[in-house]
Amino acid sequence: MGSQLLSTVERREVLPVSYIRPESDRPRLAEVTTDSNVPLIDLASPDKQRVIAEIGLACRTYGFFQVINHGIEGELLEKMMAVGLQFFRLPPEEKEKLYSDEPSKKIRLSTSFNVRKETVHNWRDYLRLHCHPLEEFLPEWPTNPESFKEIVSEYCREVRQLGLRLLGMISLSLGLEEDYIEKALGEQEQHMAVNYYPQCPEPELTYGLPKHTDPNALTVLLQDPSVAGLQVLKDGGRWIAVNPRPNAFVINLGDQLQALSNGAYKSVWHRAVVNAAQERMSVASFLCPCSSAVISPAAGLVRDGDAPVYRSYTYDEYYNKFWSRNLDQEHCLELFRSAQQLE
Ligand code: OGA
Ligand code: NI
Repeated sequence: MGSQLLSTVERREVLPVSYIRPESDRPRLAEVTTDSNVPLIDLASPDKQRVIAEIGLACRTYGFFQVINHGIEGELLEKMMAVGLQFFRLPPEEKEKLYSDEPSKKIRLSTSFNVRKETVHNWRDYLRLHCHPLEEFLPEWPTNPESFKEIVSEYCREVRQLGLRLLGMISLSLGLEEDYIEKALGEQEQHMAVNYYPQCPEPELTYGLPKHTDPNALTVLLQDPSVAGLQVLKDGGRWIAVNPRPNAFVINLGDQLQALSNGAYKSVWHRAVVNAAQERMSVASFLCPCSSAVISPAAGLVRDGDAPVYRSYTYDEYYNKFWSRNLDQEHCLELFRSAQQLE
């Protein structure tokens, strides 16, 4: 059987049945608002204390923020987007070679989210790569387009530096030592998803990615500069659109930072919607604890006499649980509450 890649078939006029969500689970795009207060953080600001306080507030209230003046050249961001798009435009035979729906494969081109587990598919293809240590994975990365390895490896190196710098600021914003989170997570892995959302004939009936939280520690997302699609769930159940800003990254906290912060910081629900007029790309970089890292709430953040909100577990245990499920179930972290909390 061939793959179910969307990017290898002609543009469709009707949404195939296997992508149609039940009526109770549709994006209701008319109800989505744009919030002009989405935190925007200028990393070049000379007032470091203020930047840390702003990050803390963003993590507590929104669980995500955008950063500008982050030190990564705009030209590299453009090249990353362009080579990603070139990849999805390759001839079908080229892409089939990389296709796999086995989540444990470290380099694979796939579609939807977890085609083996899900009942309704998502309007997305994605290329997933492990990126750290680069020397280990680079030989297996796609060799076509020709410039892929060079551009994407430079991008990955820069994004890693930015991510680690942000983890330092997030630690400080929690009142922890600057290197607390980095130490707690061990030698972090880095994974990347180059997401391609084709034009969709009926965007009201399906998702690019349904509501989910990211299972890792920190996500650095580069959005298509000209097409919106990312939406975040605010308290009270309102979906807000996070519209792209030129040269900005969207940063969101994953489940591991919610656990480490003992629930003070949130790994928020987000989703990607598709549209009828244009295809859309995004590049998500995930910093992930090393698989043997033991994750538990930082002792300094658990009040004396209280039980920690979450129990200790290894990231390996968490990651396997995450991929054994469908995306839009209950928050995966709910399955890791400490026994005292469950009583
Ligand atoms: C993801 C994700 C959002 C987007 O890849 O985990 O949330 O806008 N992507 O593509
Ligand atoms: Ni996500």
